[in-house]
Amino acid sequence: MHGNRLMLDIASGHPAIDFYLVQNYERVRGMSSRFAAAICGHLIRRQTEFGIGGDLVEIGTFEGRFFIAMALGLAPGETALGIDRLDWPDDSVEGRFHANCAAHGLGDDCYVSWKADSRAITSDDLHEKLGGRPVRFVHIDSHHSRDCLTNDLELVTPLLHGDGVICLDDMLHPGYPMVVSAVFDYFARHPQMRLLCIIDREDIVAAPKFLICSSAAFAHYEKDLLQAFSRFHFILNADMETYFALVLTPRPRLAEVGP
Ligand SMILES: C[S@@+](CC[C@H](N)C(=O)[O-])C[C@H]1O[C@@H](n2cnc3c(N)ncnc32)[C@H](O)[C@@H]1O
Repeated sequence: MHGNRLMLDIASGHPAIDFYLVQNYERVRGMSSRFAAAICGHLIRRQTEFGIGGDLVEIGTFEGRFFIAMALGLAPGETALGIDRLDWPDDSVEGRFHANCAAHGLGDDCYVSWKADSRAITSDDLHEKLGGRPVRFVHIDSHHSRDCLTNDLELVTPLLHGDGVICLDDMLHPGYPMVVSAVFDYFARHPQMRLLCIIDREDIVAAPKFLICSSAAFAHYEKDLLQAFSRFHFILNADMETYFALVLTPRPRLAEVGP
């Protein structure tokens, strides 16, 4: 155990990300699981290998725990853009965010911090901030309300690379039972998008995430995640009624039934 978390033997396969995950991830205050960071880091590494280029966006950086893990996986010339109001719990969070980025290997030229409320910016503003580059990976971890999640999904979707991935934090968290309905409303408005994978919780403070991608990219990512993380596969998967999404969980097992 590290702190009160179980240290799982899981890696992204990217040396800089894995060094950070092993040595420093738990030292940076934040709420996302190391399990999820390894899986997202793996996806970012594989995107580079597949020739999927573009920037990274996180909405809700807080002190940078998850942002640093993802940004370390970008290819040279790509930028990580972090959007946050940077006023919670107080204004000093901004200094800690930059100090954490510097301490864990993110040079000033690799990332941009945008102090803003995501509800006050448009996709055009974001497009301009990104210099017109597509977004290949997004992590949405801002205000856990249906309104804000809907806003953030609609903000990033027009800029997403065709093979891009959106990761959503705290899905199915017992403290925010209503928020997941915003995702299903989003799927109804964007039938080309699918739930690729549910990354199960490590803990109540490191709750599940959803990975979303286009139906055209689904099979490719599904195969890759299954190959890389078969050890963590919950074989019954997630029933989406017309298809199944992958489920990766820190301790896969099935209920024991029968004599
Ligand atoms: C749970 S924390 C993020 C944790 C971080 N992603 C991690 O994994 O460690 C949520 C953050 O979202 C920010 N936030 C909430 N609503 C926001 C909004 N509408 N626009 C921008 N940032 C927002 C808060 O300031 C806070 O820093």
